Amino acid sequence: MDSMLPPASELEELENVAVEVVLEAGRLIVDDRPADLGVAKTKSTATDIVTVMDQRAQDLLRKRLSAARPHDGFFGEEEGGAEARSSITWVVDPIDGTVNYLYGVPAYAVSVAAVVGDPRVPGAWEPVAGAVANPVTGELFHARRGGGARLQRGSDEPVTLALSEPPDLAQALIGTGFGYAADRRAWQASVLLEVIPHIRDIRRIGSAALDICGVAAGTLDGYYERGLNPWDMAAAWLVLTEAGGVFTGLDGEAPHSSMVLAAAPGLHSALDALLSDAVARVDLR
Ligand code: IPD
Repeated sequence: MDSMLPPASELEELENVAVEVVLEAGRLIVDDRPADLGVAKTKSTATDIVTVMDQRAQDLLRKRLSAARPHDGFFGEEEGGAEARSSITWVVDPIDGTVNYLYGVPAYAVSVAAVVGDPRVPGAWEPVAGAVANPVTGELFHARRGGGARLQRGSDEPVTLALSEPPDLAQALIGTGFGYAADRRAWQASVLLEVIPHIRDIRRIGSAALDICGVAAGTLDGYYERGLNPWDMAAAWLVLTEAGGVFTGLDGEAPHSSMVLAAAPGLHSALDALLSDAVARVDLR
């Protein structure tokens, strides 16, 4: 996929565009958040709530991105996509952490990534620039391929992210998440039962994008989850790898909806081995 990589000046432009649009969409979802959020429709189960704001934020992102980069493709969580007429597709999650948004828990984010390849095919795409903004805390993570990852808090100067030496697995704080469908959640809970005796503790923050950025920023030591979609992971994946982290599927494979895991290089293989064993034990039952 390296042959598809845009030149450095274009990568910088893509990162700037991503930053601009996540900030604008972040303002929209906070400023226009109705006190009583109506449930617009449901997806896989009644727990999976898609709000009117989700669609509005995505429509805004689509409009801004197609004005700035008319030939790029668009692939978002909500309705309305576009095929690429350039090498770039924008993969967007207008609100990652929808349930937190609904309840007013300040852990949700707008996530926007420019990717090369086909984001619908695991292993056939990768992010080259992206940004993740938590509009409540003012945290903004952004990165471009080969250009490092940065965290900016409000109007503070951006800080370059660089992972430090991780603790041993037994002392590691690991994030994870759960899907919306009951059978998926039951499987995830069984895997968690196998994992939790071997780590320091678990966190379920409720936004995969913020979890993965959290590993890049050191507020989590690792993260894993089954069932992520490209828009949940695309921008945060790049923030993590540009900060020196490793982002894969199980057994070091390409990130896949069956499992993704994120950690510093010194922890990744131990977490991978623990998860492989846990998944094998649960799947054998
Ligand atoms: C969800 C969040 C959550 C994760 C789920 C995702 P959404 O995204 O990232 O943390 O556990 O798997 O679907 O639905 O809020 O955009």
